[in-house]
Amino acid sequence: MVTSGKATRDLGINTILTHCGNDPHEYHGFVNPPVVRASTVLFPDAGTMASENQKYTYGTHGTPTTDALCNAIDQLEGSAGTLLVPSGLAAVSVPLLAFLKQGDHILFVDTIYHPTRRFANSMLKGFGIEVEYYPPHIGADIATLIRPNTRVVFTESPGSNTFEIQDIPAIVKAAHAHDIVVMMDNTWATPLYFKALDYGVDITIHAGTKYPSGHSDVLFGMISANEKHWKQLEDSYTALGMCVNSDDAYQILRGLRSMGLRLNHHQQSALTIARWLEQQPQVARVLHPALESHPDHALWKRDFKGASGVFSIVLASGGKEEAHKLLDSLKLFGLGYSWGGYESLAVHVNLGDRTVAAHTYEGPVIRLQIGLEDTQDLINDLQQGLTTISAG
Ligand SMILES: Cc1ncc(COP(=O)(O)O)c(C=O)c1O
Repeated sequence: MVTSGKATRDLGINTILTHCGNDPHEYHGFVNPPVVRASTVLFPDAGTMASENQKYTYGTHGTPTTDALCNAIDQLEGSAGTLLVPSGLAAVSVPLLAFLKQGDHILFVDTIYHPTRRFANSMLKGFGIEVEYYPPHIGADIATLIRPNTRVVFTESPGSNTFEIQDIPAIVKAAHAHDIVVMMDNTWATPLYFKALDYGVDITIHAGTKYPSGHSDVLFGMISANEKHWKQLEDSYTALGMCVNSDDAYQILRGLRSMGLRLNHHQQSALTIARWLEQQPQVARVLHPALESHPDHALWKRDFKGASGVFSIVLASGGKEEAHKLLDSLKLFGLGYSWGGYESLAVHVNLGDRTVAAHTYEGPVIRLQIGLEDTQDLINDLQQGLTTISAG
C-alpha cells in the first residue's frame, strides 16, 4: 500500500490509484481486500468487550473493506479522515447536519446540484437555519454576505449544468477570516483534477456514484475533512447511524483502480466533441470550462488539473420541442439523469430553480455526459441528431 505524505507526492496518480487503500500482505497476499459483511463483531472476553479496546466493534463503525476505501480516499484527498455514505446526496446532507444548528446562516452557490437546494430549502429552513444563495462568480465579495451567524459557505465548482468556475481560494480566504467552514461538492473534478483540501476547502464531498463507480450500478457518497473538522464530522456521522455496506465500498475501491484511465478518456473525448460542437450552426454555445471560449477558462486553468466528461450545449434557438427532438433522435446517448458511467447520456436541463444566477440563454440547454465509446461514433450520432433541428 502506498501511504499518504511525501512518498505519495512523488508518485504518479495512476500508481497511487493502483496501490492505495489496502496492503495485500495484511490479508494473506490477496491483491484485493476481503468483502466483510457485518453487523455483529465478537470480542474474545468480557474485559475486552467492556473496554471496547478492539479495532472493530460493530458493523456501523466500519469493516476492513470500508477502511480500505477510506484509506484510499484519504490518500487521494490528503484528508484527515473520510466517511462513506449511501449516496452523493447523503454526502451533501451529512456534513450540513454536522455543522449547522438552529439560528445559523449558510451561503450556497446558486448553481448547486438541484437536490442540494431542495434539502436546504426544506430540511435546513425547517430546522430554523437561514439559507441564502450567492452568484457563482462572487469570489472575494462573498465577504459582503457574511453575517455574525454565518457558519458554512457551500461551494460547487463547476456549477451543476452550466459549469461556472468559482474562485475557491478567494472564497476560502474570506470565509476563514471569520472562522466559517467551507464545503465543496467536488464530484465533477474528483480529487484527481481538483484537490480541494489543498486549496483550503475544509470538507470535500463526492458522489461516488459517478466516476469512482464508473459503471452506473452503485449509489455512493464520500465526505473527507481536514484535521480541524474531522472529529466533529465523524461524531455526527456516528450519531446519525449512517453507514454503507461493504459490497458497495468494495465496488467503489475497484472503480478507483481504473478511474485515472477512464477520466483521461472521458476528458479527451469530451473536449474533442465540445470543440466540434462549437462549430455547429445549431449550437449557440458550449459550456465547458476547458474550452478557451469559456468565460471562466483562465480560472479553471489556474486551479484544475483536468476536466471530466460532462458539459452542456446551448442550442441556437427553440425550446422544449427542439430539445426533445434532438434527444429523441440520439441513438448512442441514453436519456438519463446521471453521469460518470461508461456510457454516454443526454438530458434537457431545467434552470428554473436559480434565484441569483439567472441566465438568459439563446435556446434550451442540453447536458451531455461523454462515455467511453469511440469519439467519432458519438460525433456521428450528435451530427445526425442536430440535423433534425433547424439552425438559429
Ligand atoms: C454534483 C452532484 N453532487 C451530488 C450528486 C448526488 O449523487 P447521488 O445521485 O449519488 O445522490 C449528484 C448527482 O447527480 C451530482 O451531480
